[in-house]
Amino acid sequence: MEIINRRQRLASLTRKIRRENKTIGFVPTMGALHQGHLSLVQEARQMSDVVIVSIFVNPTQFNEGSDFKKYPRDLTADAATLSDYQVDYIFAPDENEIYGENFSTYVYVENLTETLEGAARPGHFRGVATVVTILFNTIRPDFAFFGQKDAQQVAVIERLTKDLGFDTEIIVAPTVREDSGLAMSSRNARLTDEEKAAAPIIYRALKEVRSAFNRGERSAAALHDILEKTIESEPLAKIDYIAVVDNTTLEPLERIGENRALVAAAVRFGDVRLIDNIVLDPKQ
Ligand code: PAF
Repeated sequence: MEIINRRQRLASLTRKIRRENKTIGFVPTMGALHQGHLSLVQEARQMSDVVIVSIFVNPTQFNEGSDFKKYPRDLTADAATLSDYQVDYIFAPDENEIYGENFSTYVYVENLTETLEGAARPGHFRGVATVVTILFNTIRPDFAFFGQKDAQQVAVIERLTKDLGFDTEIIVAPTVREDSGLAMSSRNARLTDEEKAAAPIIYRALKEVRSAFNRGERSAAALHDILEKTIESEPLAKIDYIAVVDNTTLEPLERIGENRALVAAAVRFGDVRLIDNIVLDPKQ
């Protein structure tokens, strides 16, 4: 495994890999790796000849400078973890390598980026779309791996991949959960014991929604209600938003018709904001 810091070196390396007709699997991360990231790496390892993981805490996707500064960074520990997973290359650029002097070109994905997480975090998806475009452009991966937990991020990346014509297949891996059902996230470490015991209510509520859907419920309002009431049954849970939307366009739904629906929630426990979601597929 080699750690690469320079974009030019990575670009020439990936050109060579492509000339050798090898496939490239790419897992973009901001480090602080947990089981959720590692499941993406495992999937990348299975599907591709060469696996590249990027570790870059992307300043443009943070709203608060203080969150950016506080974001955990430990390249040595992350690299040690990744070496157990047969990763070929880690791309760990510094900020100037990605955002050079007078950087002024951003990628803005219309329609998908102002609602849900975008409403709570203005500019967040512009930062994500910009850095992912730069990374895709440098690496030109055959496959890129993202977690279902960040469902809106997936919708944004799928859109930009189509719109900008990247020849990259977006692979979405299922959310990895703790035994309690709580979705894995670096934020879970900030929950108190009491909050940690309460937080699995989000997934229990999403499962209630799935059961109602499986029994034939197609009204978005009814499914929304089940989610809201179940989460509110937990006194420590404070709902930020819950939504039943089209899985591709993220438009709010009245009824679930032929297309897949995304049921998403953001819930606060103390000062920790957690997100989770499920996808309801009428064709299954
Ligand atoms: O999901 C993340 O960790 C980040 O948003 C990503 C995709 C690595 C872009 O910085």
